[in-house]
Amino acid sequence: MINLVERQSKREKTELVLMNIYNLPPIPKVMQETIQLLENKNTRTNDLTKVIIKDQSLVAKILTIANSPLYGLQRKVTSIDFALLVLGFSEIKNIVSVLSMMESFKNKTDNYLDQKKFWLHSFLTGSVCKRVADDLQTGNGGEAFIAGFLHDMGISVMHRFFHSNFVQVVNLVNNEGISYAEAEIEIFGLDHQEMGYFLVDRWNFPKTLSSAISHHHNPEKGGDSTLLASVVHFGDYMTQYLQIGNFEWDTNLQLNEVARKILGFETEEAAAKFIDSYKELFESQKEAARFLS
Ligand SMILES: [Fe+2]
Ligand SMILES: [Fe+2]
Repeated sequence: MINLVERQSKREKTELVLMNIYNLPPIPKVMQETIQLLENKNTRTNDLTKVIIKDQSLVAKILTIANSPLYGLQRKVTSIDFALLVLGFSEIKNIVSVLSMMESFKNKTDNYLDQKKFWLHSFLTGSVCKRVADDLQTGNGGEAFIAGFLHDMGISVMHRFFHSNFVQVVNLVNNEGISYAEAEIEIFGLDHQEMGYFLVDRWNFPKTLSSAISHHHNPEKGGDSTLLASVVHFGDYMTQYLQIGNFEWDTNLQLNEVARKILGFETEEAAAKFIDSYKELFESQKEAARFLS
């Protein structure tokens, strides 16, 4: 086991490298333009449609998400105009944001990280977090979608920017039977929650969001973000419990008691019952997520 002094020095080394990652992968141009337009209050639907339809694969992805069980819309959304009308600018902005992050962070699958599994896990967690936030009326389903989508982003950062260390983490887990979180601390001096926080904070996301990401395993420490962190933790746990879109990093994930209570489940059985009722939604949302490959 790593001692505190070693941990601190590894942590400082990791932070130094993180701070020097200036060449974050670029966000595709159309997505960048779209996000800019969406941020401008004077933008008209027409201007936006013109930019989005320049990228037909982006159009297809937006429509797939708009029609996915997550939104449970009555009518089929077949055009960007209609998607903007029924979902609204801010929802479309969330969708375009996560798609662009996924696009710029996609890396090649190797023996150490299966990209397809990782993004499916991210997408399903984001989707279910939004749905849970809406159904339990915790507020701000949009933020829950992004936070859920990005919760394990630190893993992707480790894989991309610290590849040899990432390999060491995986080997440590395989050879010593310790958890991923322990192995991350051993090698990096910090875990993927903190790594994710660092990145999202640099992108200037709201503090509640970055803080929820950095406490998705221990929402009780999330301060002002405890509620959002609880939603993210719960969504993450649901993928593991239902074994749909789950990810090996979460193998040992236990349902956090504070999160369970905050979300209104008196007992573990009540939480389990709620989760079971989402099984079908998960299955069909996973089906809708085929576009990720
Ligand atoms: Fe995690
Ligand atoms: Fe996760």
